[in-house]
Amino acid sequence: MTDGYPPITEQLSDADAAREEGRRKMDWARQHMPILAELREEFVEEQPLAGQRVGMAMHVEAKTACLVELLADAGAEVAITGCNPLSTHDDVSAALDAHDSIISYAKREVDDEEYYAAIEAVIDHEPTVTVDDGMDMVAAIHDDYPELIDSIVGGCEETTTGVHRLRAMDEDDALDYPVFAVNDTPMKRLFDNVHGTGESSLANIAMTTNLSWAGKNVVVAGYGDCGRGVAKKASGQNANVIVTEVEPRRALEAHMEGYDVMPMAEAAEVGDVFLTTTGNRDVVTEEHFPRMKDGVLLANAGHFDVEVDLDALSDLAVAEREARDGVREYEMDDGRRLNVLAEGRLVNLAGPIALGHPVEVMDQSFGVQAVCVRELVENPDAYDAGVHEVPDALDREVAEVKLAAEGVEFDDLTDDQREYMDSWQHGT
Ligand code: NAI
Repeated sequence: MTDGYPPITEQLSDADAAREEGRRKMDWARQHMPILAELREEFVEEQPLAGQRVGMAMHVEAKTACLVELLADAGAEVAITGCNPLSTHDDVSAALDAHDSIISYAKREVDDEEYYAAIEAVIDHEPTVTVDDGMDMVAAIHDDYPELIDSIVGGCEETTTGVHRLRAMDEDDALDYPVFAVNDTPMKRLFDNVHGTGESSLANIAMTTNLSWAGKNVVVAGYGDCGRGVAKKASGQNANVIVTEVEPRRALEAHMEGYDVMPMAEAAEVGDVFLTTTGNRDVVTEEHFPRMKDGVLLANAGHFDVEVDLDALSDLAVAEREARDGVREYEMDDGRRLNVLAEGRLVNLAGPIALGHPVEVMDQSFGVQAVCVRELVENPDAYDAGVHEVPDALDREVAEVKLAAEGVEFDDLTDDQREYMDSWQHGT
């Protein structure tokens, strides 16, 4: 299939040093991932993934690496690559590649050709389970390697955009194996998308620019799970939050939270920082750039780099330069400077100093991933081709482990309460 796309270790000049640094990052993450630690005890003992081959396309950094290692230590052979050309940490990728049951092709700053060659290299290992963030692996298998589908027990999808694409594929009857919508579980969506994206996007923008949030007009495009988190955290840092939306109930919700809601054409004139979280394309465009103030920051936290129209911005610019690491300045003919962070890619993952979500948040997301992979392998006949909700019992299992690790106790229903809740006969 591929002509031997090399694993990361063969691409680095000092693989030993990289491996050591990657291991250090993973050890730190692992100390703060109690859910994966609890699952590790069970997985190492029972080897639920023995004989499986897991193919993964994810953001390869320390937290993801802890999931990858867990799956390998549960008996699987794992091949992994990145799901974004800029989000891989090469040292972590090298540390993973050193594991006997893991091969990592992930490398930072690959071009499109290398990006897809690495995905093909993973598929060459003929996975029986896929774990995706954005659906590029599922798409490549269906497009180019349909002969592998019969031996795939199922897949797991990490993010909103991937689930969205999978549902569209399913509606077209084009999805030929079962995939869990991991993104949609409460234990993922309500924490990772909301708190994770909120905290890590704002932290990365602040650290990349060394600028303050206080007193800024921050325009949040899209008031879904990610937008809610970004808006709340920005507001908590004394920014004035403006929300743009296309869905009336989300717009109303933002209004009732006390944020200003307005069309992007108006927000363009007052915003100091623009952060897109829509999962859609062409949210900030040539219609908006001419209205913006000098010095604005433009960043994206949605999955693909299509929310801010960088081609149009580049066409309008009379000059471009790297104003700081991770900040590209576009100078307009009237002298205004518009600054794009992380090339318009996921700002919390693709910036030069980006670390992605906080560790504790990813412990939850990856705890759900791990139990979903276990479920697919243990019950291969329970799921038809198509997108599936994660069984509620699995999500609860992860929540209970997390609460126990945090030392948080909570109530249980009494028998009378359970009976009352299940009955339709009790009225006034
Ligand atoms: P969501 O579906 O909950 O929210 C998206 C919102 O954007 C919706 O309310 C929708 O009405 C709105 N929207 C769509 N087009 C718009 C437009 N043109 N203008 C204004 N609003 C518009 O999705 P969620 O979970 O918030 O995810 C958003 C994106 O972020 C996805 O691409 C997802 O994959 C990605 N994501 C990124 C993460 C990160 O680490 N940066 C983490 C989790 C998700």
